[in-house]
Amino acid sequence: MTYTKAWLNYEKMDDSPERICVALSETGPIADSIRRELQIAFEAMYGVAPIFADQTDKEALFVTFHCSKVHMYGEEGYLVKAVPGKITVESGGQRGLLYGMFAMLERLRMGEYAFTLAQTPSNPIRMLDHWDNLDGSIERGYSGNSFFFCNEEVTVTERIRDYARMIASVGINAVCINNVNVRGVAAELITARYRAPLVQLSRIFEAYGVKLFLSLNFASPKRIGGLDTSDPCDERVRAFWRERIADVFEGIPNFGGFVVKADSEGEPGPFAYGRTHADGANMLAEFARPYGGIVIWRCFVYNCQQDWRDTKTDRARSGYDNFIGHDGEFADNVILQIKNGPMDFQVREPVHPLFGGLKKTNMMLEVQIAQEYTGQQRHVCYLLPMFHEILNFRTFCGQESDTIADIVSGRTYGNRNCGMVAVTNTGDDENWTGHDLAAANLYGFGRLAFNTSLSAEDIARDWIRLTFGLNQKVLENVQAILMMSWPAYEKYTSPLGIGWMVTPHTHYGPDVEGYEYDRWGTYHRADHMGIGVDRTPAGTGYTAQYNEPNASMYANVETCPEELLLFFHHMPYAHVLKTGKTIIQHIYDTHFEGAEEAERMLALWRELQGLVEPASYMRTLARFENQAEHAKEWRDRINTYFHRMSWVEDEKGRKIY
Ligand code: GCU
Repeated sequence: MTYTKAWLNYEKMDDSPERICVALSETGPIADSIRRELQIAFEAMYGVAPIFADQTDKEALFVTFHCSKVHMYGEEGYLVKAVPGKITVESGGQRGLLYGMFAMLERLRMGEYAFTLAQTPSNPIRMLDHWDNLDGSIERGYSGNSFFFCNEEVTVTERIRDYARMIASVGINAVCINNVNVRGVAAELITARYRAPLVQLSRIFEAYGVKLFLSLNFASPKRIGGLDTSDPCDERVRAFWRERIADVFEGIPNFGGFVVKADSEGEPGPFAYGRTHADGANMLAEFARPYGGIVIWRCFVYNCQQDWRDTKTDRARSGYDNFIGHDGEFADNVILQIKNGPMDFQVREPVHPLFGGLKKTNMMLEVQIAQEYTGQQRHVCYLLPMFHEILNFRTFCGQESDTIADIVSGRTYGNRNCGMVAVTNTGDDENWTGHDLAAANLYGFGRLAFNTSLSAEDIARDWIRLTFGLNQKVLENVQAILMMSWPAYEKYTSPLGIGWMVTPHTHYGPDVEGYEYDRWGTYHRADHMGIGVDRTPAGTGYTAQYNEPNASMYANVETCPEELLLFFHHMPYAHVLKTGKTIIQHIYDTHFEGAEEAERMLALWRELQGLVEPASYMRTLARFENQAEHAKEWRDRINTYFHRMSWVEDEKGRKIY
């Protein structure tokens, strides 16, 4: 299958040097990748193949790479200095040289010839989690099938190298290739059965500085080890893991460790044996430690068999309640992977309270660029503004550096096993991400994880120019679309932080009561008077999981940020917001506005006919047309539901059904 080059789509530049000389004395797989990348880029941009030599002449563009062991930018950081005719790239390691090279190419592609770039990555671990299954399907995948697996086999193709190039170009240094729900033969990825292709795959990633991870099934001792228990404290179970883990690390080069979803949504875990998550995670970590391996343990643990009549049990509380008591018990090569919010990647959620609660535990921030609840890559929804807000959230954890960005980067507590991970959005579709514009989330996640101080606007601008070229009109329109897309999506879907209201299971499209009487702990509690969940101390008490002053800020209707009002409070429709509008009028207005904004995005895209490559234009046009229609469906379903519930007329007399 053919596929696009996404943002590595090097275009011919107007000015070309006559010759390009590159001095790079390093050897090894990453150095070879640098040579390969320069060859690809310079030939496409300038029609000139670089000459690898230590000397140059006056006419040539001379690029020099220096790797010094004790460089101030570390092993992954870089310093790039460019003046016309001469560029130097320095780092303390080959990965830094690779990142510096990609950063240099980006500037050259924008037509810049004199620049200084100095960057150390903000986060030690910058990771993508694939939810790919061995049959080739992808859980919550909206871009075709897996390019890692097909028919219960691991597939090693040239496409994977191109994927490694793409993600390395934005600084990703870890990938987990299989679904956290480890079902069927996927449990055997840690056995000899899949060894040979995994070694090949890992070598491809190694050449681009990316460590390979696998998700494992906690019940493997029973499932594939022939034991009658998976109790982490049982000696036979420990022996099973000791041998398996040693075998994986010794057999697969460039192997980073494991991702584990335990005691969550039916996946097995230590609770079945009366053991704690620390018991489970530490046992695995003990056997990974001799290899420098890590265990990434997910905190998405909640009761998914709830009774909707029960208003005291609160799913939002569960991550914190399950883990806070174990702070300090996890080994230093265990990282707790915490979703950005306490529920599940909704369009708007408060930041997960565990980040501000845990003080002696490694943490990683998990976001989802697969748009499970944000339009499934049929709608455009540029998520970087959301991620930016999350990273800047102050936890008041009692340390000087107390934002989410500080905590997950290791600045707050001085740790190294931490960082950011995204559930990723790629598949074998021609354009990688289903919607051409969804690639901005993949590119953007990598850039933001590498440098958390970048703005969503700047990242969007770079992505647009690298993907679509330097046309000003394209830049303006696509930038406008991206920046309005998340607010628009929020407006025409569920209001004021309440979330859900989606079709059960598929999570696409409106169904206001779809999850209202179900077992998943996802309720809006709307009646004829009002809507929302009381999570104050008078309600479920969730607000108390935050440090002060956040706890009081959320608990008090006056100070609670209004975009989250219904997440924290059950409010009457007649409540007047700071805008002077009642909640019910706000619901009507935002839904009409959001649908209009979807029309506006379609119109902005239409203006680009002839300016964007035709296949990409047409593919994307079809998605925008669909989005505009679907936004109306959302608008009408939500407005009609609340009109019928509340009996309150729209002040503006618009059509509600
Ligand atoms: C969501 C998603 C599941 C996924 C789960 C997880 O609930 O719908 O498909 O397995 O998150 O993060 O583990």
